[in-house]
Amino acid sequence: MGKTKITTVFFCQNCGYESSKWMGQCPGCRQWNTLVEETVPAASKGMGGSGKTKALGERREPSSLSAIAMQEEERVSTHIRELDRVLGGGIVPGSLILVGGDPGIGKSTLLLQVCKYLSDDGRKVLYISGEESLRQIKLRAVRIGEFTDHLLLFCETNLNDIEETIMRQKPEAVVIDSIQTMYHDGVSAAPGSVSQVREATGILLRLAKSLGISIFIVGHVTKEGTVAGPRVLEHMVDTVLYFEGDRHASYRILRGVKNRFGSTNEIGVFEMRQDGLAEVTNASEYMLNGRPEGASGSVVVCSMEGTRPILLEIQALVCKSSFGIPKRQATGTDLSRVNLLMAVLEKRVGLPLSNCDAYVNIAGGIRMSEPAVDLGIVIAVVSSFRNKPVDEKTLVFGEIGLSGEVRSVNMAEQRIGEAAKLGFQTCILPKSAEEMLRASGNIPAGIAVKGVSSVQEAIRAV
Ligand code: TYD
Ligand code: MG
Repeated sequence: MGKTKITTVFFCQNCGYESSKWMGQCPGCRQWNTLVEETVPAASKGMGGSGKTKALGERREPSSLSAIAMQEEERVSTHIRELDRVLGGGIVPGSLILVGGDPGIGKSTLLLQVCKYLSDDGRKVLYISGEESLRQIKLRAVRIGEFTDHLLLFCETNLNDIEETIMRQKPEAVVIDSIQTMYHDGVSAAPGSVSQVREATGILLRLAKSLGISIFIVGHVTKEGTVAGPRVLEHMVDTVLYFEGDRHASYRILRGVKNRFGSTNEIGVFEMRQDGLAEVTNASEYMLNGRPEGASGSVVVCSMEGTRPILLEIQALVCKSSFGIPKRQATGTDLSRVNLLMAVLEKRVGLPLSNCDAYVNIAGGIRMSEPAVDLGIVIAVVSSFRNKPVDEKTLVFGEIGLSGEVRSVNMAEQRIGEAAKLGFQTCILPKSAEEMLRASGNIPAGIAVKGVSSVQEAIRAV
């Protein structure tokens, strides 16, 4: 009786939550209709982490910290600086890197470019595709440039064959495009299901750790929940990068979400061109491109993305509401934050905004959540409400509290430096940040610094 009994489990295709019965809403991630029935052999239930334990299979003794030999951590440069920075200085050999993103955003293109640069260095690279034929990959490769013979292409979805090929070829880096097309014979569920995706990742994890191969895994983000999303494997891999951007705009942002070997708040900026992805090193200039002149409701803020300051334009449009309930909309920033800031303006500054529609937009379609953009949103709203343009050469930043105070933000020096580089002449910032800057004497020439401690003061200063 039933040692090899097959049981059915319901998995959330979004976050991997496991349940023995079907539910309409996933208790893990609160998404609706994402639970899908999958059959798993009873013995292998909860297979997710098994790869890891197997990798550490042989018997070992615990050791003290001092007994561990430190070796200089070796990193392999991808020769794409934007990517290297997000990875924390390059690829760590033996690491498993998940690259997630919407279909068509450019994941395959980016990884094929990584393959090109690694193979140009004389490293053996294996690109395994379960989605495209060799001919289709070739077509893409021709657009990107010349490839050396160190890059090997392989169209396969069976993990046994892939494992065997990797063992035989011993490449330094492998790309799996995409994890949702891979399957293992031992799991009866369909490719793309949570149990398949986890099992496949477990096998790749074991390969990466035992052979010291860096493996990139592509994971499609899906809205419909028909295949398991990359979030299901975030906990298994070393590094998680998400590729985002408006499909209609040409720039793309690569965001580090998890990194066992570096910081996570770095972003890389790319532009999709005819010949693949190009790095954008002057992101601020790029983002401010095409800014309207002398328009009300437009103001420039500075957001820190990891170690890098980026100037962005915030636009607001405030107009009389024609219906009883005013309409509020935010693109690229949090709507509840916009509502909160407008409530602060209403209560602390006395602006009658409660019967106004308001639309707030971060130009260029980029998403920013740093509190330092608060002051920018407030100034843009006031500027639009009063129909008075803000001086184009003025930068603002600061976090706003509920009593209308302007609170300090970190890295004021880098923010001002970036603004000065792009020819800004005035900077309105939190008072405490100004005092700190004056004390350290780090104010660039040619830029006037005005510290403010409340929203009212900031509005007067603009
Ligand atoms: P792709 O890398 O196939 O996306 P993903 O693997 O994330 O699904 O990118 C597809 C899009 O990129 C497609 O719409 C065409 C565009 N593209 C370019 O604009 N230039 C290029 O050089 C390449 C290769 C693709
Ligand atoms: Mg692809």
